Amino acid sequence: MQVLGLDLGGTNIKWAVLDSGGGVDGAPRPLGYGSLPTGAEDGPEAVAERLLEAGRRAIGIHGDADGIGVGVPGLFDRATGAIELFPNLQGAWPGFPLRARLEGQFGRPVAIINDARAFTLAEGTLGAGRGCRTLVCITLGTGVGGGVLIDGRLHLGANGRAGEIGHQVVVEDGPPCGCGNRGCVEPLAWAETLARLAGRGTAAEVYAGAADGDERCCAAISEVARYLGLGLANVTTVLVPDRIVVGGGISAAGELLLEPLRAAVRARAPLVEPDRIDIVAASLGSEAGAIGAALAALAALEETSAAAR
Ligand code: BGC
Repeated sequence: MQVLGLDLGGTNIKWAVLDSGGGVDGAPRPLGYGSLPTGAEDGPEAVAERLLEAGRRAIGIHGDADGIGVGVPGLFDRATGAIELFPNLQGAWPGFPLRARLEGQFGRPVAIINDARAFTLAEGTLGAGRGCRTLVCITLGTGVGGGVLIDGRLHLGANGRAGEIGHQVVVEDGPPCGCGNRGCVEPLAWAETLARLAGRGTAAEVYAGAADGDERCCAAISEVARYLGLGLANVTTVLVPDRIVVGGGISAAGELLLEPLRAAVRARAPLVEPDRIDIVAASLGSEAGAIGAALAALAALEETSAAAR
């Protein structure tokens, strides 16, 4: 089978095409990737058109897909595939019938998955979390996304929303968050805060400055790592994962961020032998979300065919 994954991001829509077999140990094998600008400011209708355009381009290059997965930056209704909340994507998204719209146009089944849960599926299946039974993943970018594998399977909880690591409250009545709450990890630790604390334009500039020894950049990373570390330590105490995989803009930071995160988890999750838990960088790069969306499409097709048997 061949599946297509689309990752709806604030800046770009990425796509990945996967062959369901043919990879290492029979794992799915990526066949190709691409992207186009999201143009989020044009609103949901235009963005849905661009998702179609991205999908058509991918299909034009690699041939038809049996199923399509779409990673979205927030919450959606599992039954209808309509969007509920995108904390960081502008436009009138709540209620937008994304799955119905795309299924109608592609004429193929569409599975919707949260973007960070898609990242988790990808890193857990093909990337830095491969082989872990209990895995925690976090993505640092415009938002702070998360996902959890338990017994090797994506844990979505009773209503499909489990894994929102960035929306744990770590400062009571702290800064407002796009989700409507206050003091979540996200506004304390996302790329925008990091850049502001360091007086730089982007997170990548902060990491470059820190690598050159700039004190303000180093201090900004420590501050952000404090809150991320708190969030990760709490999750660690509850789940005791085999590994924590950190992705998103992190690729530029590497050990500069990973080391303070390890120190925070060691300091704040002392009961659960935190030294045993690896905290590592993601390995699939910026395509992880699209790969994970394609894996979600594959899982949905397999479920449908199992139900039909
Ligand atoms: C949303 C998550 C999403 C993350 C990254 C957060 O604000 O709540 O659902 O995964 O941003 O897009």
